[in-house]
Amino acid sequence: MKEVAAKYKGDGSAAEMLAKKIRAGGGGVWGQMAMPPQLQVTEADAKTLAEYILTIN
Ligand code: HEM
Repeated sequence: MKEVAAKYKGDGSAAEMLAKKIRAGGGGVWGQMAMPPQLQVTEADAKTLAEYILTIN
């Protein structure tokens, strides 16, 4: 998550993009493994998580 925060530092649209990716899943950014969808996480919680992750350093 430190690496995620460093990668998107200064990217104003990162929180929204990551919040969507947390729920939808996706791949091709960090390696060959894809992240499965996490639809048990609400949109509001995904936004909170994404915003928090981007503060980790
Ligand atoms: C609520 C739980 C989770 C959160 C908040 C979360 C968060 C994230 C974030 C922020 C990224 C970076 C995405 C990017 O840079 O585009 C990521 C990537 C990834 N996550 Fe998760 N994740 C969660 C659950 C999981 C689970 C359960 C798995 C596997 C069982 C998983 C596997 C992965 C993988 C493989 C990637 C790399 C995907 C890529 O290369 O694009 N994640 N996750």
